[in-house]
Amino acid sequence: MTSSGLRRLVQQWLPPALIEFVRDVRQRADRRTDFQYFWKRFDKSSIPSELREMVAAFVESPDFPKISRYWHYLNANNLEMIAKSGSENYRKDVSLNYYTWTDFSEELAGGLFQAAAQSPNSTYSKLFRQQPGMELVPSVKHNILLVALHAAVMARPIAHRIGEVREQVSDSTPHLRIGDIRITQDRLNSLLEFERISLLGDFSGWRTVLEIGAGNGRTAACLMSLVPGLKYVIADIPPALFLSLGNLRGLFPERRVAVGFKATDREQLAALIRDNDLIFIFPNQIRLMGDKSVDLFLAVDCLHEMTRTTIDDYFSQIDRLALNFYMKVWNRTRVPFDLHHLTRDDYPARQHWEKIFDVACVFPSNFSEMGYSLPCAVSSTTA
Ligand SMILES: C[S@@+](CC[C@H](N)C(=O)[O-])C[C@H]1O[C@@H](n2cnc3c(N)ncnc32)[C@H](O)[C@@H]1O
Repeated sequence: MTSSGLRRLVQQWLPPALIEFVRDVRQRADRRTDFQYFWKRFDKSSIPSELREMVAAFVESPDFPKISRYWHYLNANNLEMIAKSGSENYRKDVSLNYYTWTDFSEELAGGLFQAAAQSPNSTYSKLFRQQPGMELVPSVKHNILLVALHAAVMARPIAHRIGEVREQVSDSTPHLRIGDIRITQDRLNSLLEFERISLLGDFSGWRTVLEIGAGNGRTAACLMSLVPGLKYVIADIPPALFLSLGNLRGLFPERRVAVGFKATDREQLAALIRDNDLIFIFPNQIRLMGDKSVDLFLAVDCLHEMTRTTIDDYFSQIDRLALNFYMKVWNRTRVPFDLHHLTRDDYPARQHWEKIFDVACVFPSNFSEMGYSLPCAVSSTTA
């Protein structure tokens, strides 16, 4: 256990009054609050002469004994900052000790955000809009991320397609209206994924996409909106499978939908895939799909939450099924409850796959995206 972990554990068991008492005693004993002690040892040649004279006079002045320990402490730190970074930089840094804030809580800034949300300037009012069903601070954090994502997407070639993505955004969905569109993080993240996936091919010859762990179906909605002829198979577990089914069925009423989790053999599943555009199955059923029958295999933000055995199984299936593969994972994860660690380099991509890209995601910036082109024939080493 780390020392901070141990400290937290001890603090949980001690009465708060005792913790406060110990903290007060420690603070009073802190030598950094003894300004005279500090000043005696301080290298006075490291600060401007005018300031040196001022401080020397101040220590002797009747004001000195009246100053709180806290301000003696801050002043000592500030003098050290001036000595280290020069008085010009200090002017900038020191404002943080006076009245400039770099963090916020609802207690600190709730009133400010509510006032800002009323601003006639729509950029400000958007940023501070409280999202339905969300507390104020999470809303503002959500909005800041959404605006940053929007700015990032609008600076990229994919920007002109932002309005083409079909999405069901009700009043209760966290979103911001930008222009004519209700913009969500899902739309923006999926567009960034689409742009990256497009580096694997231009989709023109691609027919079938298989996505595992599709969540609410946001990536599927984006691909199906931007590439109208695609056949899309989703392999997931409930309740996510139910959620993506409902969402995508609602968004693409003109597409034929099959709920295929009862299919037990290759022929049954092949017929469902042949006769439909959107097919929903359980993960184990991807074994029933034909060799190299998947033009694009997607695993977005899901592999890192699986057991190593499941990941190994999927990679064998990817090798057998797919012609292209895109994955997006945390750079490092510790899977809760299963308690194993995974890093971005732990995934068993095969030697014979050609890596087309391996890059840090724009967002989340501690995720990576990898894209591979796979051989057209099943490798003899495929499990
Ligand atoms: C964090 S969500 C990501 C959802 C979606 N890909 C996205 O990026 O919005 C993880 C998804 O993985 C699915 N999942 C978990 N274990 C799975 C498994 N063994 N096989 C397939 N999907 C799985 C969950 O049901 C969920 O849909």
